Amino acid sequence: SRDPLILFMPSGKRGRFPVGTPVLEAARQLGVYVESVCGGRATCGRCQVEVQEGSFAKHGIVSSNDHISPVGPKEKRYAEVRTLPEGRRLSCSATIEGDLVIDVPQDAVVNAQVVRKAASDRVIERNPAVHLCYVEVDEPDMHKPLGDLDRMKVMLEKDWNYKDLQVEPHLLPEVQKILRKGNWSVTAAIHRDSPTSRPTIIALWPGLHNEAYGLACDIGSTTIAMHLVSLLSGRVVASSGTSNPQIRFGEDLMSRVSYVMMNPDGREAMTKAVRQAVSELVDKVCAEGGVSRSDILDSVFVANPIMHHLFLGIDPTELGQAPFALAVSGAVACEAKDIELALNPGARTYLLPCIAGHVGADAAGATLSEGPHRQDRMMLLVDVGTNAEIVLGNRERTVAASSPTGPAFEGAEISCGQRAAPGAIERVRIDAQTLEPRFKVIGVDQWSDEEGFAEDAEKTGITGICGSAIIEVVAEMYLSGVISADGVVDGSLAARSPRILENGRTFSYLLHEGAQKITVTQNDVRAIQLAKAALYAGIKLLMEKQGVETVDTIRFAGAFGSFIDPKYAMVLGLIPDCDLSEVKAVGNAAGTGALMALLNRDHRREIEETVRRIEKIETALEPHFQQLFIDAMALPNKVDPFPKLAA
Ligand code: FES
Repeated sequence: SRDPLILFMPSGKRGRFPVGTPVLEAARQLGVYVESVCGGRATCGRCQVEVQEGSFAKHGIVSSNDHISPVGPKEKRYAEVRTLPEGRRLSCSATIEGDLVIDVPQDAVVNAQVVRKAASDRVIERNPAVHLCYVEVDEPDMHKPLGDLDRMKVMLEKDWNYKDLQVEPHLLPEVQKILRKGNWSVTAAIHRDSPTSRPTIIALWPGLHNEAYGLACDIGSTTIAMHLVSLLSGRVVASSGTSNPQIRFGEDLMSRVSYVMMNPDGREAMTKAVRQAVSELVDKVCAEGGVSRSDILDSVFVANPIMHHLFLGIDPTELGQAPFALAVSGAVACEAKDIELALNPGARTYLLPCIAGHVGADAAGATLSEGPHRQDRMMLLVDVGTNAEIVLGNRERTVAASSPTGPAFEGAEISCGQRAAPGAIERVRIDAQTLEPRFKVIGVDQWSDEEGFAEDAEKTGITGICGSAIIEVVAEMYLSGVISADGVVDGSLAARSPRILENGRTFSYLLHEGAQKITVTQNDVRAIQLAKAALYAGIKLLMEKQGVETVDTIRFAGAFGSFIDPKYAMVLGLIPDCDLSEVKAVGNAAGTGALMALLNRDHRREIEETVRRIEKIETALEPHFQQLFIDAMALPNKVDPFPKLAA
């Protein structure tokens, strides 16, 4: 008769193994990643799996708990000392006795952290670059003068199959102490970035050490966000964010580049500021997660090109002018201490590759997360900031560009614009008949025309319009006929509505009259038109490069996308016509990409390869861009149809 058939979920990998094979061994042979620190001694508890019971007709498997060996003495001992959740088995001890479907629990469930719109949770299969390996080393013997370290290497090779191990030199003075302290047992952290690279021992602990963490960090120009993650379970144990202290050198990216150009120690000051902020965030997540810095062994960063360069201590001046040359575009792998990051002394750092001079490692992270390169459909991925980073592609071909949208989408340059805080108008509707508005204010539960609004609004005040609402106001003004397709506020309406105010040669729309007048001026509308035209023209250019008239699906990465309503984005023509159900906000996709690269080294190769293949388009060099921009000034567009919007 044939050997039992084993199917591992969620990877779907399967194979036949003789009765009596430990489940962990089967996983190893099939390349299914199951964590194990103790090397199958049933002491670390990291190798837990679950049997899925039932008939899996599609795979021809009937799986049952009778097909796995009963709990043996070692497993029982572990369960008594450390407790094993119901249904869980230690795969190093449990052996195959019949056909099985084995579930490898993936704790790395990432909530994309979209504040108001829930994006789908995702599971990241684990295969980190750093691994903990416990070994028991022979005691020294005068007749066999092999060094303590060398005997440890022998055991790491024997038990863990690591050949040609290197050792971090800073560990050499520690080896003898650690081995003796652990009574000849030791846990080694081994870093191996790819299956072919040379493995390195980066940390040692006496006895069994069962904690290993990593950081995934997104350095944005305004905020820095960080996750602290267990490399053993994949669980995010703490997440935090802070504002980027470089803001004091300049609000936007270009002003920070100018600061470097004008000040002899400007680069140094900004590098110091961002590294300091990252270090403070490490303190914060460590405190929140109850984790010691010395247990952090790996870290992954994404950032836009200028933040990326400043974090690495590279002068970003070249990025401020054509041809926008990056000092390094490929992924950067180094030791954490090289960038003054005080984690475990052997900890590593990895920065995702940059796509182009204006399309950074953050866009690479978002690409890794959303995966246009993994699908057949044409996906548009947009990250809107002062620059919009745009990626368009599918399995066959991917193109990328950035477009200078300016800060209007973030509420800057808008007369009553303000940051999203209590008192800011966040939602707007305008009645097409009366031109009267209704709106919602952050910090107040009701709409402005609902009962109780006035009392509650009294407390917060009504102070301005937040960035995301700007899109909505202008779109509602267009839908109600306050502005024309050219974006002109129709002054003739002043005769029938007190909402239309004259100021000089143009008109404004009065949204609220209270302690402060909140108006949308002709200039505000223009600023939004310019920003949206830049974004759309960039997208359109990429669509032309791809030779497509429409896109199948749209992903908005970043905070901006989380707050705007896709319908309004389309009404104004920020994005091309698309099925509204296919337009999704995905939150901090760049950060999710960093997390993926942290938890699975294969994702590093995947994004490096993808970025190499992405065709970079420089909008400034495309003569056609100007025409596309002019066409896109109209609402929603002068030439392009929006049939899905009409429907
Ligand atoms: Fe450590 Fe199974 S590998 S308990």
